[in-house]
Amino acid sequence: MVNSNPMPTSALATTDAPASGGGAETSRATPAGADFDAWAAQRAQRARELIERHVGAGLAPGASLGEAMHYAAALGGKRMRPLLVWATGECLGADPAALDAAALATELVHAYSLVHDDLPCMDNDVLRRGMPTVHVRFGEAMALLAGDALQTRAFEVLTGDAALAPALQARLCGLLAGAAGAAGMAGGQATDLLATGQRLDLDALRDMHARKTGALLRASVLMGVACAAERDAELAARCEPALRTYAENIGLAFQVVDDVLDASMDSATLGKTAGKDAEQGKATFVSLLGVEPARQYAQRLLDQALEALRRLPPPAQQRTQRLAELACRVLARSH
Ligand code: IPE
Ligand code: IPE
Ligand code: MG
Ligand code: MG
Ligand code: MG
Repeated sequence: MVNSNPMPTSALATTDAPASGGGAETSRATPAGADFDAWAAQRAQRARELIERHVGAGLAPGASLGEAMHYAAALGGKRMRPLLVWATGECLGADPAALDAAALATELVHAYSLVHDDLPCMDNDVLRRGMPTVHVRFGEAMALLAGDALQTRAFEVLTGDAALAPALQARLCGLLAGAAGAAGMAGGQATDLLATGQRLDLDALRDMHARKTGALLRASVLMGVACAAERDAELAARCEPALRTYAENIGLAFQVVDDVLDASMDSATLGKTAGKDAEQGKATFVSLLGVEPARQYAQRLLDQALEALRRLPPPAQQRTQRLAELACRVLARSH
């Protein structure tokens, strides 16, 4: 139900963050520093190196499958989920080796979700990260298998690393599986398909977005927290509620912005087919609210995420800059 007040408080009411009165002011106060850019570029490069090591084209028997996995994971991508794992874990003082495994695992599940999302039986998309989609390049069956194998590789990464204590491995696997499965991404994707051509109300739409996209972003933050708990369980436990709120807000904002970009950018900028949501009759924040109100809604979510960071106790409180910058990137991105 579109209405004249499309930033309904009710749409934000289930998060435990208080509504922020600060609005746009809050996010403008966060400078986009050169330090952050250098950090993000370095960590994105690290993600690429980890992918090369674990999903190299020669690693899977059967040339096409390995190549398709590598193509899906290695080339392009903003690496938002690994960046969240690293930013969270570094904020809380986690062991870097544990963070690497967690960061890689989130990106592999994400890459799998994109391959399947693009399949003809789902969004039927031909362009991803500025290149032909995996099924266009390798065929539908190979794309299906590449997605499957990327997902299972994520769990091999988490369980095959001697640097991770068994209990941490189990915790990370649980978080990632929960985010990827029926209660998370896969369930949200199912709702997306069933809702195509239908009208979802705001609560249903928010729930769908929180699951299909928000769940994995949220898990990325919580996996960073889990890694940190190995070193300082008390600090991790004290920080978790606020970080959870941060993660839920940016997780939802991420898909709202994705909806806005689909409706407002061109394919060359996006690296994927622009305007396809409207063409396919998808239920999105743009179809429900319109572009500008959807953008404002995302801004509100960002403000709540930043507000949550301010509630973190010391010493984490002094180390939130990268998490804040990442949240701002969710909104400011052009693709
Ligand atoms: C696109 O995710 C699909 C959604 C979950 C909205 P990203 O925008 O993170 O895609 P890449 O990894 O940067 O290509
Ligand atoms: C997909 O949402 C979210 C996933 C779980 C992959 P979209 O279908 O809107 O993602 P894009 O626009 O194709 O990247
Ligand atoms: Mg989709
Ligand atoms: Mg899609
Ligand atoms: Mg989209």
